[in-house]
Amino acid sequence: MLSFQKLLKAQQISKSDLNKLFHQADIYKTKLETNQRITDLQGKILASLFFEPSTRTRFSFESAMNRLGGSVVSLENGASSSTKKGETLDDTGKVVDQYADIIVMRHPRPHSVEEFSKHVTSPVINAGDGENEHPTQSLVDLYTIHSELGDIKNLKIGLLGDLKYGRTVHSLVKILSTYNCSFEFISSDELKVPNEIKELIKANGCSFNEHESIDSEVIKNLDVLYVTRVQQERFPNKESYLKNKDHCYLAKEHILNPEKLIILHPLPRVDEMDRTIDELPCAKYFEQVRYSVPIRMALLALLVNKA
Ligand code: NCD
Repeated sequence: MLSFQKLLKAQQISKSDLNKLFHQADIYKTKLETNQRITDLQGKILASLFFEPSTRTRFSFESAMNRLGGSVVSLENGASSSTKKGETLDDTGKVVDQYADIIVMRHPRPHSVEEFSKHVTSPVINAGDGENEHPTQSLVDLYTIHSELGDIKNLKIGLLGDLKYGRTVHSLVKILSTYNCSFEFISSDELKVPNEIKELIKANGCSFNEHESIDSEVIKNLDVLYVTRVQQERFPNKESYLKNKDHCYLAKEHILNPEKLIILHPLPRVDEMDRTIDELPCAKYFEQVRYSVPIRMALLALLVNKA
């Protein structure tokens, strides 16, 4: 059993939750690798409601539900739903609740998934609410680190790119700051990590440094480098986006120790990194995509079975 029924923000995930999720994900990962049939959510339905573009998150949740023997009803493009006719999210919640056993939702407005969830009795999962949070991407990131490095404690982690609007960064830092990690934030001045997150890091007794350009010597000492795209759609205007978009381009030459660290990226990537980095042993972002299915299977199974 997990300590929550609705996953809206990263800070709900306790250490004990994370251990249970990793344990269950390992079981599913082995079963998937050995082609075993899984029927844990047979007869259950996942509703996937996406009011913002998505490839990985929606596909991996839907793939996870199918792999569990359940089925999916899906709204790929919120614009094609009744919200377009003026239906409120409250009403959409009350309605979709009757069709499904669990709901995963993405929406461009911060905290909208939380508001929606108040009108729903089934478990609800936040798959990204604007620039606020994306807690299940953190589960994917943490499960990748746990699997590749053996532990998520005491890490030196660098986060590069759009630290202001990148919701995956916000959620991940909130969790890792409870595991005695230290942070190197690398971004333009305008795209620095929000103050509220810096305060949380301090309150949790962890340390961080901020850099306005990439320094290979900083990267050399990292266990994990987490690269993100500059979130064009969240800028107030195009000029501001253009000014910031190439500020922290990651070149292959910046990576002096490709055997020691791992590089992650929630994807999609645009042009924030040199693609020849893919050839290095430290490039783990496509493995990260693979880890997303067993960890989201674990989340779905543990939430539905609790319900
Ligand atoms: C991220 C998101 O949607 O926040 N993508 C994802 O879910 N893997 C990152 C991004 O869009 O840059």
